[in-house]
Amino acid sequence: TLRGVVAVDGPSGTGKSTTARGLAMRLDARYLDTGAMYRAVTLAVLRAGLPLDVAATASDGDDDVVGVALGARVTVSTDPAEPRVRLDGEDVDAEIRGTQVTSAVSAVSALTAVRAHLVAEQRRIVDEALADGAGIVVEGRDIGTVVLPDAGLKVFLTASELVRAGRRDAENTAAGRSGGPDTRADLARRDKLDSSRAASPLRAAEDAVEVDTSTLDIEGVLARLQHLAEDRG
Ligand code: C5P
Repeated sequence: TLRGVVAVDGPSGTGKSTTARGLAMRLDARYLDTGAMYRAVTLAVLRAGLPLDVAATASDGDDDVVGVALGARVTVSTDPAEPRVRLDGEDVDAEIRGTQVTSAVSAVSALTAVRAHLVAEQRRIVDEALADGAGIVVEGRDIGTVVLPDAGLKVFLTASELVRAGRRDAENTAAGRSGGPDTRADLARRDKLDSSRAASPLRAAEDAVEVDTSTLDIEGVLARLQHLAEDRG
C-alpha cells in the first residue's frame, strides 16, 4: 500500500495513463490524470464557441480564451477503478479524447493563467488524498518538476516516436475513433509544443527514474514501477 506520492511524467504514447492507473490499483492508491483536466478546460473553450483555430493558437493575451478556461468547472474522481472527469457536472471523459480537443489542448495548456489555476487544484486534490491517509499516483508532464517536486518517487516514461504513434493509433482504433490527423505528425507537433513552452515545459526532473517502454509491455513496466514504489514511494 502506497502512502506517499508517485509522479509519472512523459510524452504521449509512452503508456503513461495505463501504467499510472494500473500502479494506483496495485498499490491501493488514488489516481490523478492531470492531462484530463487540461483537456476538459480545452473542451470548455471549444464549447464556448471560440473557433478551433483560435483555441489552437491561443496565447496569454487572449482574454476570451483565458476567461472561459478559468471559469470552467472541472472536477475529477480519483478512484483508479473509475477515473472520471466532469465539466460543469457532466461526464466528458469520452469527448475530451476526441480530435478537436487533442488539436487544441497543447495551446490551451500553455497559457500561464490556466496552468497556475490547474496546478493549484492538482495540489489541493493530492493534499486531500494524503490527509485521508491514502497514497496517490499523479500523471502528467510537469508533475515531478513543478506540481509535486517533493514526490517520493518520480518516474519519467519514454519510448521511440514510432512506438508511441503505433500505440496511439491502436488506442484510437479500439475507441472507434478514426479520420484524425496523422498520428505521428500530431505526436511530434504536441511534443514540440509541450517541450518548448515557457511555462513548465515537458522534461524529466533531475531525480526522476527514466524508464524506456519501447520494448516493454505493460506488465513489464508495472512490475518495474511497483518495485521502485515499494522502495521509496
Ligand atoms: O496526457 P494527455 O495526452 O491527456 O495530455 C494532453 C495535453 O495536456 C498534453 O499534450 C499537454 O499539452 C497538456 N498537459 C500539460 N501538463 C500536464 C498534463 C497535460 O500541459 N501536467
